[in-house]
Amino acid sequence: MMPGPTALNFSETTSHDIFAQRLPQTRDDSLPQILVAAVTHLHALIRELRPTQADWRKVIEFLTDVGHASDERRQEWVLLSDLLGASALVEEINSRRPKTATPNTVRGPFFRADIPQLPLGSNISLDGIGETLEVFGRVQDLDGDPIANAEIITWQANAQGFYENQQPDLQPEFNLRGGFRTDADGRFHYRTVKPRGYGVPDDGPVGKLLRQAGYPLRRPAHLHFIIKAPGFETITTHIYDGSDPYLAEDAIFAVKPDLVRTFERQGKGWLLDLTFVMVRARQGADT
Ligand code: BEZ
Ligand code: FE
Repeated sequence: MMPGPTALNFSETTSHDIFAQRLPQTRDDSLPQILVAAVTHLHALIRELRPTQADWRKVIEFLTDVGHASDERRQEWVLLSDLLGASALVEEINSRRPKTATPNTVRGPFFRADIPQLPLGSNISLDGIGETLEVFGRVQDLDGDPIANAEIITWQANAQGFYENQQPDLQPEFNLRGGFRTDADGRFHYRTVKPRGYGVPDDGPVGKLLRQAGYPLRRPAHLHFIIKAPGFETITTHIYDGSDPYLAEDAIFAVKPDLVRTFERQGKGWLLDLTFVMVRARQGADT
């Protein structure tokens, strides 16, 4: 069939409408609607910035590099989403919790799912480098009742500010990562080393771009946690070292006051006492 006159009329002002006209208007799923919204914003951005063809080739090259820098060990797409504030915004929209519950933050690109399950009390520092940190925690519901057998997944940077998967030749596999289960009283504990804050990696296309633009790439010292228990919303969060000077300028907008804790001195090492408060999952909702 010959295209109608409007379809031939692709111009600066009609481009997004013409795109929209080509999609089915009556569909049960929202895919056509999502595409129209995305393309409408994209075309508006192009009209605003007016890139040359060479500029646009650079955009495509950047996105290609992001793809090439992403694999099981490193997720450059996640880094892009995090540094642009997109991950934090999606989190904000989706996990409004009661004030007394532990808030979610982004998971970040250094998470690994294939971690070892460890007995309570284990030391997750496999190279022993750094100041000892003992972590004691409890997991409870909004009423303060303990949640037994909750799954705790933790990962963190080392005392120099690097994750094990950033330094596969320098750190033992699974260094500073572990999976635990709370005991009958909803408690867990393990040993580790005090993490240091770090610069978000700028050896890949995303870090390079933002560094070039003058964007500060610092992250304050933190531990990552995922807490899962049947019937409760999964918590994906960080715990921050309250003495870190960069809390207010976290590169990925993931510091929330409720997640900042004091690491207490204990002999030559440190002690951290944590409480995670879970919210019951709504029926049929993702946990
Ligand atoms: C992290 O904390 O592991 C992280 C999160 C987002 C971007 C970079 C690092
Ligand atoms: Fe981190």
